[in-house]
Amino acid sequence: MPLVTSKEMFKRAYEGQYAIGAFNVNNMEIIQGIVDAAKEEKAPLILQVSAGARKYAKHIYLMKLVEAAVEDSGLPICLHLDHGDDFEICKSCIDGGFTSVMIDGSKHPFEENIELTRRVVEYAHERGVTVEAELGRLAGVEDAVKVNSKDATYTDPDEAVEFVERTGCDSLAIAIGTSHGAFKFKGEPSLDFARLEKISKMLPNYPLVLHGASTVLPEFVAKCNEFGGQLAGAQGVPESMLLQAGKFGVCKINIDTDLRLAMTASIREHFVKNPGDFDPRQYLKPARAAIQGMVQHKIKNVLNCSGRL
Ligand code: G3H
Ligand code: 13P
Ligand code: ZN
Repeated sequence: MPLVTSKEMFKRAYEGQYAIGAFNVNNMEIIQGIVDAAKEEKAPLILQVSAGARKYAKHIYLMKLVEAAVEDSGLPICLHLDHGDDFEICKSCIDGGFTSVMIDGSKHPFEENIELTRRVVEYAHERGVTVEAELGRLAGVEDAVKVNSKDATYTDPDEAVEFVERTGCDSLAIAIGTSHGAFKFKGEPSLDFARLEKISKMLPNYPLVLHGASTVLPEFVAKCNEFGGQLAGAQGVPESMLLQAGKFGVCKINIDTDLRLAMTASIREHFVKNPGDFDPRQYLKPARAAIQGMVQHKIKNVLNCSGRL
């Protein structure tokens, strides 16, 4: 079974009104934990790699690890570039074997975003690779990008239609109030569902993508804090809101922060309980199991994609 694109996965997700989890990967244990979860749940899967992850682990290592995961699990996995911010990184990932890329031109003015996205789409489609683009800007922090809430802008539905028509992108990431990282809302969580519904009605049969969709489960925040973390005030998107999003054309839900929290809580706990340990396998084994548990929880309770292989 080779790596697959997102095309068929999204078609089925749209029809079935569920979403596929796109999980960020940085090393072997994270990949193994996620893939074990998808295998157990018989769920479709997207593994995504950010520019920061490529810098940390190197493209070739992540590529080979994901190829090993495909061979070992027999699962149809889509390997996706997360937040590619220029043509060169998208080209490098396409040439280097990824089956899907995101060109994130959301920081550029509308016309420039269209031009950049169209260029990537042309290169990718000639090589059988699918393209996600972004319109509107999420707040929050990633390795490469930091967007203040005052600079965040929600996606305009009319612009979304024009953008998709003029670029030919295969899926569109929209901004409706989610944000990257562990501190998503200051007060009550709220997402602009009226906007999402409008966009999905104006773009029928078209897959939308939700970034910044970690739920930041209170028990993991509590566990991190119990074992020395400092995450007071962390808050994610409620699970009920994400489940609702799947009914409005959202076919891909991005999750990174929740994996970081699960892994870090596990490692913190290990060292508090075993201060004398210095064998990486002793703390990475439970950390990998914590990732698997988190991903199975997402597949069942947030994505609704268990058994959809
Ligand atoms: O949205 C971005 C992902 O969480 C990746 O984060 O850029 O720190 O690898 P990163
Ligand atoms: P979270 O920070 O909510 O996990 O979002 C991840 C993401 O959008 C990756 O592109
Ligand atoms: Zn993102």
